[in-house]
Amino acid sequence: MPGEIQYDPARSIWALMTDRATYALGVTPEGFVRHLWWGGRIGSLADLPDPRVPAGRSSQEGGLAAAHEEYPVWGGLRLRETALQATRTDGTRELDARFVAATIAEQSGRPSLTVQLRDAATALVIELSYQLDGARDIITRGVRITNRGDLPVTLERALTAVLYLPRSTAPRTLTTLAGSWAAEAQIQRQPVVPGIIALDARHGLAGHASVPWCAISAREWHQATPPDVGEHGEVYFATLAWSGNWLLRCATTVDGDTSLALGLNDHDFAWTLAGGDTFDLPEVVLGFADDGFDGMRQRIQSHIRAHILPRVAVDAPLPPRPILYNSWEATYFAVDEPGQMRLAEHAAALGIELFVVDDGWFKGRSLDNAGLGDWTPDPAKFPRGLTPLIDHVHHLGMRFGLWVEPEMVNPDSDLYRAHADWVYHFPDRPRSESRNQLVLNLARDDVRDHLLRVLDDLLSRSAIDFIKWDMNRPFSEVGWPAHPELAREIWVRHARAVYSLLDALRARHPRVNFESCASGGGRADLGMLRRTDEVWASDNTRPDARLTIQEGWSFFLPARVVASWVTDAPGWMRRHEYPLAFRFHVAMLGTLGIGGNLLEWDEDEMAAARHWIARYRDLRPVIQDGRQYWLASWQHGWAAVQYLAEIDAQERIALFVFRRDNPFDFALPPVRLRGLDPAATYVVTGEGAPPTRYTGAWLMAHGIDVSLSDGPYASQLIELIRRS
Ligand code: DGJ
Repeated sequence: MPGEIQYDPARSIWALMTDRATYALGVTPEGFVRHLWWGGRIGSLADLPDPRVPAGRSSQEGGLAAAHEEYPVWGGLRLRETALQATRTDGTRELDARFVAATIAEQSGRPSLTVQLRDAATALVIELSYQLDGARDIITRGVRITNRGDLPVTLERALTAVLYLPRSTAPRTLTTLAGSWAAEAQIQRQPVVPGIIALDARHGLAGHASVPWCAISAREWHQATPPDVGEHGEVYFATLAWSGNWLLRCATTVDGDTSLALGLNDHDFAWTLAGGDTFDLPEVVLGFADDGFDGMRQRIQSHIRAHILPRVAVDAPLPPRPILYNSWEATYFAVDEPGQMRLAEHAAALGIELFVVDDGWFKGRSLDNAGLGDWTPDPAKFPRGLTPLIDHVHHLGMRFGLWVEPEMVNPDSDLYRAHADWVYHFPDRPRSESRNQLVLNLARDDVRDHLLRVLDDLLSRSAIDFIKWDMNRPFSEVGWPAHPELAREIWVRHARAVYSLLDALRARHPRVNFESCASGGGRADLGMLRRTDEVWASDNTRPDARLTIQEGWSFFLPARVVASWVTDAPGWMRRHEYPLAFRFHVAMLGTLGIGGNLLEWDEDEMAAARHWIARYRDLRPVIQDGRQYWLASWQHGWAAVQYLAEIDAQERIALFVFRRDNPFDFALPPVRLRGLDPAATYVVTGEGAPPTRYTGAWLMAHGIDVSLSDGPYASQLIELIRRS
């Protein structure tokens, strides 16, 4: 169901109805737009309260303090979270936005509502938009701000949404993802208690430290309780589709009033709107699940597949993500034509479909201290250019991919020698280098045009099928000496410039796929996912760490976008030996890749790799586009992940089970599956085990007994096919 928008003109109420949720708002007699409900689907609009400004409890909380406005602006007695703050040329910093009009329409087959508000004194017009994904109980919220006056107005805070949960003093849990480089997306749970919990990014990219996503569940939180991975309970979730500085604030009052604010970070932010100018804020994708975290996962993952990820044509199905090989961990910067050709031959023999040359291929690049900015093949490493290697890769039946880091420059590069003023800087301050590199000022048209020319040229001259777009340092000295008045707009201008480059490249080279990488998963947000096909989830390829990281990402990223490689053990950062099957099983949870040095793999390893690659290819539609259930969390020391899909009218299930170790020689508890038809019969096949048959009812109530080999890092892939 696409969802529907119901309207009660007598009471000025709009209810956004999805299959199992409702989001409602209304206009008070004074013209304030109030939020009325978000949660389970309501039976009738008549149940909703009249939109009125509530009487305050005391003079300290009167007026609009607790009014739950849909878009609270900074002004008057709005004492809680506000979304918009602006200053006029005369110094007035007060806004008062009132309802003007609302329109119900349809955008790309999805019902949508637009609500217009206006602040009379500044003539700022605020357009709130709501677009429904009815089957998934998801709403996309956007905001457009237009200055319809003659005088400039400077925005100093511009959040997209302040969301309100039903008031409750029952314990709630806030789930977020925190991390750092090579340790992304670690699940965090904390009680929602009175006060403010704030997360943000303020260094130019969505970041490793936290992710612009969160969920609030109506479940009691105990320190000793392992995280709920299950299928019960109400979960509210929201994410900001933005790759630059963001903020997310969860605020709760002592009487259980919880709001969730998401938007551009107001830290060092300003944006001046001249008369007639318009400013679009990044979208917030919000959802409600009444069936726990798996319900949330399935809704947002499938929404991303259906409505966020780029496709060649609107209705085109998403093609399977190819199984890739990446040279980084095998060769680091020591790439050259003969070495890469040899690796490509080994990769092709395994059934690899996409061969990617990582960092080190371009002029002057033998370490990380030179070359960024000069995107032409290094003549010493590729004396004949890239074409012979690309032809060889294509001839071997694979696609060809290449690494770039376009937003950066090494001071030791021709680009920097020619244009030292093209980086963010202040004239009389040092330029802080990180990884020996500086950030190009993408707010400048000439820098953006240059990058578009260079990348377009690269893609036009060479038959490149895939670009890994990396970004390896945060911003510093965010100055633009020629335009000091625009300096605080850089944060937004830079992210928009990255988007416009990717959009332009995709438009000119529609068959080229892109991966978003920022030292691993530093830019894995919905803004990037609108224009990239996958994300590099982490530089940490150690499989037990990867399970933690991938479990975190699974809260919103579909498996098809989570690039995951099998690498060598022991390798960097790895102290243990991990069985090859375990490494493959972990990587098979996402889009499978290999990053080990294949030249050093023996015949047994190559044979095993061929086997797992073939298994992955067969199960790929189930894993990449199936419904995902985390049956057991790796935080318990063992994990079970189930994927379920109907392929060519046949229901197929892939079940991966992992165990860290078994010091007491205990059998695993039966693994209880989810989402099956209780009346149907399923044929179960494990590696090396004869097929057995069970009913869906048994598999869900009792579960499968999984026998894992002894010793650390045991795993199993089990397949189920529905037979009746
Ligand atoms: C950081 C990425 O995350 C790695 O995969 C690799 O591409 C390096 N950069 C190359 O410099």
